[in-house]
Formats: sequence, C-alpha cells, structure tokens
Amino acid sequence: MVSSDSRTIEALPHWESTPDDIPSAIRQIKAAIRESIESSGRSVAEVADVIEARLAEKVAKIESVKQTGESAWPEIRYQDISDGVVSAEQVSLVKERGCLIVRGHFERDQALEWDKQIVDYVEGNSFFENYRGSGDDFFGSVGSRPEIYPIYWSHSQMQARQSDRMATVQSFMNHLWTSSSMEVEWFDPNRDSLYPDRIRRRPEGADSAGLGTHIDTGTLDLWMTKAYQRAFRHVYDGSIEEYDPWDATFRTEGPQYPGTTMCSAFRTFQGWTALSDMDHDQGVLHSIPIPETMAYLLLRPLLDDVADDEMCGVMVSSVFPVNEKWHELPMQALSGIPSVRAGDSVWWHCDLVHGVAPVLDQKGWGNVMYIPSSPWCPRNRDYAPIAFEAFATGSSPSDFPAEHYERDWNNRFTVEELNERGRRGFGLE
Ligand SMILES: [Fe+2]
Repeated sequence: MVSSDSRTIEALPHWESTPDDIPSAIRQIKAAIRESIESSGRSVAEVADVIEARLAEKVAKIESVKQTGESAWPEIRYQDISDGVVSAEQVSLVKERGCLIVRGHFERDQALEWDKQIVDYVEGNSFFENYRGSGDDFFGSVGSRPEIYPIYWSHSQMQARQSDRMATVQSFMNHLWTSSSMEVEWFDPNRDSLYPDRIRRRPEGADSAGLGTHIDTGTLDLWMTKAYQRAFRHVYDGSIEEYDPWDATFRTEGPQYPGTTMCSAFRTFQGWTALSDMDHDQGVLHSIPIPETMAYLLLRPLLDDVADDEMCGVMVSSVFPVNEKWHELPMQALSGIPSVRAGDSVWWHCDLVHGVAPVLDQKGWGNVMYIPSSPWCPRNRDYAPIAFEAFATGSSPSDFPAEHYERDWNNRFTVEELNERGRRGFGLE
C-alpha cells in the first residue's frame, strides 16, 4: 500500500483567494501536483489508470443494472430509516452509488399542501408581476415565468427544514461519512445548519433545455486552496488507493472561490424534497452514481493531452463542467432517478456529477424544495449568522443573487416560529 506523504501536500503552492493571474497559477499548480505524485514513484498516468480501472468496473455494473430496466439509484423507505432497520446491504449500496431516494420521507398530503402554500405565498405577494428575470446565468429560465423561484423563507420551506423527519434523514445521511479523525470532529452528524436554498416549480407543458452535467463542490479552488489540497491529499500525492469519498478530513474548513452559484456551506449531500409526482422521463435529475469520479475529475487535467494552462474547461465564477470531451468513461454511467411521488426526497453526495435532462411538453408538474444535509462544522458555523441575517430580514442569502423579493412580504416565516432545532441550525443556541 502506498501511503500518503503529507510533506509533498504541504509544499504545494496555494491561493486562498482567486489568483490574479489564473493561467500562471494553473501552470504552477499542475507542475507542482505532477511533481508531488511522481515523488510516490508513479506517474500521473499510472495513478489515473488506477482510478480509471475502478470506474470502468463500476460503469459496467451500472450499465448492466440499467439494461434490466432498474434504476441505478438506491431506494430506502423513510419508515425503515426512522425505525433504524436499514440493512447493511442497503447502506453499502448507498455508499457505492453515492445517492439515494427516500420513499415517503413526508406524507404525500403534507408535501402537496406545502406546494399549495408556496403558490399562495408567491401569488399573494405578486411575485410574478414583480419578477425581474433570472438573477444568475446558471438556472436561466425559459419565458417570463421562472422555473427556479428565488424564494427562501416560506412556511413550507422552513417547516420542512426544521422538522423531525428532515433531521432523521439528514442524520442517517451524515453517518455514512467518517466525521471524526486525527482527534478532530470535522462535523457534528446530528446537528444541521439549515442551509437556505430555493424552490423549483416547473409547470405542465413546459419545454426545458435541462441543465448540463456538473459538480457543485468547487472550481479551481479544488486544486488551489490549502484545505482542498489536504482534503484530496490522496489524489495529489499518488496514494490514490487510500482516497475515500466518505472521509470528511479537512473538508469542512477553508474558503471557496466566490461565484454566483457557489455554496459556502459544507454539504454531505445535496438534496430536494418532491412537492409533486414526477415521472422518470419528464426532464428529471441524472447523476453519475460513482462517488470516486471526483478523483478522476481532479486528475484529468494533469494528463498530457490537456494544455498547461487549461483545466478541462474549469474556470472560476462558472460551474465545473463534466462532459464527453474530457470525461468519456464516467459519462457512460449517467443515470436518471426513478419516478418519484410528492413527499419522496432525493439525495446525492456533494461530489457527485449531476445534471437535469431536457424535456418537451412536460407531463405533470415538476416541483421541488432544495434542502441539503449541511451538518454543523466550521464552514457552516461561519455561514450560520449570514443565513440568519438573511432570514430575519427576508433577504436572499449571500450565496445567491441579491434579488431580495421577500423583504416586504409580511407572511414569511418568522424568528418566533423557529423551534429548538431551527434556532440551533442558525447558531442561536
Ligand atoms: Fe448542481
């Protein structure tokens, strides 16, 4: 077994904020990481071969699952999580695929009621009359009505975020990770930080171009900040066999380079809760259900066919793209979610590649609330007062475009309505 050499990682040049001269920084970091890997006695190509072989095996397995007509996404009933009777086989399948559908996370009637309340909330506050168009270029909307509503503080969202049922599932998801190592508790798996995000409501009959495959984890910072260099030390020092996507060591501290679509928080999983029934062929979420793909994405620009000042299309201030041109092997495993019902929730590991399929003349609505699992840790503790300030004033949180639609809406969720979990999530107690 090759073991990690912390000396080569600690010696890497690093940039704790976006470098002024990006091409020069790319050239420097690529040379330095290559050198670090080569000091293990293997070339970058040899290390990339190890991860490629691992991916190829998983890609083949997923292809054979798909051929049987089954979904590659594991499914677990909420009741089994709540009763603590999820089997070891189910847990290991979730870890293999990095994603999960929780069936019946909320009662269907509850989810439909939340959806209706959101409609009343936005219509009652003349949201559509005042809508000024998409505030970012990431979820650009089709036509004048948005699909992504920059709405954060409805009763529906806040009730779900601070509910017992949400906490039960978040805790289950967090425990799939190793949260303590080297005598440090990197995050608290039983306390969430209530990361505020938006909602999506896509109407019947919608045509949507979908959303290209990407990761949310970061951009150039994944190679360039000290915290990420340490977090991905086994990728950058040649000890790739020890790389573990479920190890939180060094992952919950350090800065992320700013952008309009950034996530300041550490999330073990990104997730959403379905507020309508959705069929699997109606422009739904897809992922590459292989968490180790991350290591491949990080090594790929270091191979010889990529120019010295290029990172396979990764730039700051725009999302990290994953595509056939550079990532042909893992792209073969792209897998859609199965049909879901209102009240089911969908979860994917924070490093998982994902995108949304296009759809023409969508059947039924496609409505979701984005609620991730963002456990208490240094990064999320730093963001909590920022999120709370946005909540208290009805503002858009700082990770999102400064649209602030809800500031003068007088029926948003109030500070007095927070329960103990909500207060702890914002760091108030
Ligand atoms: Fe994303």
